[in-house]
Amino acid sequence: MSSYKNILVEQSGSVKTITINRPDKLNALNQQTMEELKQAFQEINDAKDLRGVIVTGAGEKAFVAGADIKEFSEINELNARKFAENGQETFDLIQNCHIPVIAAVNGFALGGGCELAMACHMRVASENARFGQPEINLGIIPGYGGTQRLTQLIGKAKAVELMLTGDMISAAEALTLGLVNYVVPADKVMEKTNSLMAKILEKAPLAVGMVIDCVNAVYNADEDGYQTEANSFARCCGTEDFVEGTTAFLEKRKPAFKGE
Ligand code: COA
Repeated sequence: MSSYKNILVEQSGSVKTITINRPDKLNALNQQTMEELKQAFQEINDAKDLRGVIVTGAGEKAFVAGADIKEFSEINELNARKFAENGQETFDLIQNCHIPVIAAVNGFALGGGCELAMACHMRVASENARFGQPEINLGIIPGYGGTQRLTQLIGKAKAVELMLTGDMISAAEALTLGLVNYVVPADKVMEKTNSLMAKILEKAPLAVGMVIDCVNAVYNADEDGYQTEANSFARCCGTEDFVEGTTAFLEKRKPAFKGE
């Protein structure tokens, strides 16, 4: 187990919670934090015993208020591409995780924070959460996948508007736009996130991972998602969990899935 400086990694049962832990800087993602996030998700991808991940921010004010603007003084045209590609690689690791990753958005999710939340498979937001891609106010654009994921999640018109105006939106508006799955009072964010996760933990783990793969295939131009779906469906039908699921239904009992 690695020791981290800017993130907290805790495990309860088969679920890991990663907390971005720089509350005095509203959990802004400096490079150290991005490196730690990448390492944490590499470890998660290698782990055999995990079934879910929750990502949240420390404190009551912010999930993540963006990339660390203080470090922008070190960025120039020569090193910025690498900066963006590294960030995209980390967030791709999250999106491609074979176990569900839920963002518990407990406040500001701006810039890289909105991008981090969008890389997760689902989002539960507090009523005081605020979302936005304010990079345009700094003379730049999102670089950790935001132009792509925001458009995928809420559609072109609203995504373009948010990225061109830099406006922040409320959690209620984010819900209307389909950017988040649920909005709950601030003190209920973890409870709702945990109950959503618990519901998924009851399902067949291999099938859960295959749903994630197939949905991700929609956004991969090099992949035929229908073919991925057919292949994944076939693989599911060869699992012990498929036999267990159908047998349990016929025997009118709850299935006990094993991930085999
Ligand atoms: N990068 C670095 N530091 C950040 C930060 C960021 N993205 N967002 C907040 N902080 C720091 C502030 O500099 C401040 O640090 P200080 O106490 O050392 O001065 C601390 O976090 C608290 O932020 P503050 O601005 O005082 O809080 P606020 O309640 O007045 O405003 C926000 C909250 C989110 C509206 C404001 O912090 C903000 O606009 N942040 C930047 C958002 C952004 O543009 N993100 C995209 C970056 S690409």
